[in-house]
Amino acid sequence: MKSLLVFAAAAATLFGAHAQTFPGSKPVTFVVPFAAGGPTDRVARDLAEAMRKSMGNGANFVVENVNGAGGTIGANKVAKAAPDGHTLLLHHIGMAAAPGLYRKLQYKPLEDFEYLGMINEVPMTLIGKPQLVANTYRDLENLIRTDAAKLNIAHAGLGSASHLCGLMWQAAINAKEPMTTIPFGGTAPAMNALVGGQVDMMCDQTTNTSGQIEAGRVKAFAVTTAKPLKSNKLLKDLPTLQEMGLKGFDLTIWHGLYAPKGTPPAVLAQINTALKLALKDPDFIKKEEGLGAVVVTDKRVEPAAHKEFVTAEINKLKPVIEAGGKFAD
Ligand code: MLT
Repeated sequence: MKSLLVFAAAAATLFGAHAQTFPGSKPVTFVVPFAAGGPTDRVARDLAEAMRKSMGNGANFVVENVNGAGGTIGANKVAKAAPDGHTLLLHHIGMAAAPGLYRKLQYKPLEDFEYLGMINEVPMTLIGKPQLVANTYRDLENLIRTDAAKLNIAHAGLGSASHLCGLMWQAAINAKEPMTTIPFGGTAPAMNALVGGQVDMMCDQTTNTSGQIEAGRVKAFAVTTAKPLKSNKLLKDLPTLQEMGLKGFDLTIWHGLYAPKGTPPAVLAQINTALKLALKDPDFIKKEEGLGAVVVTDKRVEPAAHKEFVTAEINKLKPVIEAGGKFAD
């Protein structure tokens, strides 16, 4: 108890007056720009639990799902929110993909947000409906080469991770024509459609696909990471796309935390400290690793390095999206 009081006193001096008032009785909202039950939502709920503990002083974290337009509606809501630390955005690689896909983006990813730190990195899996005629990755690739227009691929809107993966994969296999794309408000509803056989395939994060693969409700064909997931007992035998001949294919979905521009520095520092403590929480780490995610432990947990990383990702993804051309819708 004494160490807790000492910690609180240290925090109070370190962060000044705000440490006593923020977050106060008002909850801190994590805006998730996709539907409830999906991979982004999962990271948000697990992190909210961990930050409830690490922030202390009775802080309460809630999750609000604001989906649509590949995550840009939710991101815009936070960009325009009051800069008081009570409305935060939990978003992923879509933060860096949107500028290359939306000519009229309602917000500027690098100017309209305060960067709070990176959270984790999550592999993706190529999966199919149970009735899909393909059983191996080779079957799947051949199926797309011959019947792409007759097959559909689900995603969570332009700029979502599932959309980006589908675009990159179709470009990498040099499909003659694009598959039909079926957008959803998130990959939770998309997964329901896939399990039900209403859509043919999807590329989604292991935080959402592991359970369905384990239960045998979907077919799994490959992982999108550069290296196989050898330490993951469920996914260790899935080939990487590089092993399947797609040179340099390497896609991992990172997640970060953002506040509206102009949020007071003392509040930002308090949130970043609580985030870094939460990322060291054994329960949080166990939950993440159990779903194939890796919690960030490098300098990207610091705001400046987080922003530097996203800037580099924006520049890296723009030509990838341009090269994806006809597969980008
Ligand atoms: C995505 O495809 O961007 C996400 O998986 C969507 C989601 O979290 O539902």
